[in-house]
Amino acid sequence: MVTGWIYFVQVILFLVAEEIVQIMAINRVCYLRPDPTFPIDHVIQQGLCTHIIIAFCIIDSNGELSPNDSLKEMCIKCRQAIEKNGSFGTKLMISIGGGGAGGFELATSTAENRSRFVLSILNFIRQYSLDGIDIDWEFPSWNKNLSRRVERVNFVYLLKDIREQFNQIEVMLGKSLVLSTAVAAQLTIIRMCYQPKEIGKYVTFINLMSYDFYIHKWYWPFVGHNSALHSTSSNLSLASTFTTKWAAEYWHSQGVPKSKIMVGIPTYGKRFTLISKDRNHPGAIATGSNGDCTYTDVCIFLRKPETIQKFDDKAMVPYAFNGNEWISYENEFSARNKAQWIVNNGFGGVMLFSLNADDYKLRCKDEIFPIHSAVRDELIAHETTFNV
Ligand SMILES: *[C@@H]1O[C@H](CO)[C@@H](O)[C@H](O)[C@H]1NC(C)=O
Ligand SMILES: *[C@@H]1O[C@H](CO)[C@@H](O)[C@H](O)[C@H]1NC(C)=O
Ligand SMILES: *[C@@H]1O[C@H](CO)[C@@H](O)[C@H](O)[C@H]1NC(C)=O
Ligand SMILES: *[C@@H]1O[C@H](CO)[C@@H](O)[C@H](O)[C@H]1NC(C)=O
Ligand SMILES: *[C@@H]1O[C@H](CO)[C@@H](O)[C@H](O)[C@H]1NC(C)=O
Repeated sequence: MVTGWIYFVQVILFLVAEEIVQIMAINRVCYLRPDPTFPIDHVIQQGLCTHIIIAFCIIDSNGELSPNDSLKEMCIKCRQAIEKNGSFGTKLMISIGGGGAGGFELATSTAENRSRFVLSILNFIRQYSLDGIDIDWEFPSWNKNLSRRVERVNFVYLLKDIREQFNQIEVMLGKSLVLSTAVAAQLTIIRMCYQPKEIGKYVTFINLMSYDFYIHKWYWPFVGHNSALHSTSSNLSLASTFTTKWAAEYWHSQGVPKSKIMVGIPTYGKRFTLISKDRNHPGAIATGSNGDCTYTDVCIFLRKPETIQKFDDKAMVPYAFNGNEWISYENEFSARNKAQWIVNNGFGGVMLFSLNADDYKLRCKDEIFPIHSAVRDELIAHETTFNV
């Protein structure tokens, strides 16, 4: 009887400890593009990120990692900033691939090619004292005929091979290594390109690219939210899947544990040109796109006389327009609200793309990196509440 009670108490203590450990680890995963003038010391000293992923490293024609000089320099600068801070808490990683990058097909096609590719990854990790890597293959098997569907299987083999190698060298390095992968949030891409449950087995976490939901195309000539949290259309329509909430829940429903899902928040905005300045609601017709812009650009746009700011309180994101110019963007309030939703729904953390697109030029307000700071504050507030 007594032993039973002791066992019971131990189980409770174990569960409590598990709970605390899990809640402590609300990740803030930040992407950073190489830039020699970037104020990396600020990022570290303000504890904006738990993980910094330098993006992107390409694959050469031999199927090996091919870091260029600016990427190498950024790795060194980040490592120095982390060490200078006296805290080895921030994890440093690089991302391989990125939108439009090739090389994965051949590098993963056979066991032999994969092993050469993985070896080049391990060498780079050792040489630059990294804490892990991120695979950003956009996208295995995408838009390929049936003979190429094997790519999505090879993608899983790649993750498996890296995980196995990591398990071996972790002991030698005396630290655990992070393996993440950036994945799409659109239903058609997920269906064609991924085996979510298999991916979930091998990665430390996935970085869900829950943005680019509205991209202007000739067959899709509308303005819309880059990254709505909630849907504004009927639950049964395809448009209802163009949301952060839908994408995060879908990846979970396909077999990836919530603790391994880092939900994406963009810091960049999307610019469109309206066909008519009087038809300016989300869903209005656009004649074209003016590409992406930084939050600094957004704030300059917001300050222009005659810019009208709106907040879609169903989608929970802002937009603004001035004449025929229309911008979908994220601000401190919407990012904070998303971070809160992410934590309240039990996901493992937040991914932000990118540090470079946040405002570090003080054009928005007198705080550097306002969006990253808002997300950090929101997540840390949750960590402390649960710890008390
Ligand atoms: C290191 O970074 C933390 C935030 O993560 C900050 O509070 C601290 O002051 C920094 N320490 C030094 C020595 O820069
Ligand atoms: C290095 O690679 C990055 C990312 O692929 C690219 O943006 C940058 O222009 C490259 N730098 C040089 C010096 O080639
Ligand atoms: C293996 O990689 C090499 C170098 O990239 C490439 O030339 C070769 O075609 C690959 N093998 C297969 C079967 O794809
Ligand atoms: C499928 O794609 C491959 C490579 O792009 C091509 O060689 C092949 O002819 C295609 N097969 C069909 C049936 O279209
Ligand atoms: C979609 O479904 C949810 C819950 O099932 C409901 O709360 C929400 O109002 C619905 N949204 C729309 C636009 O119909």
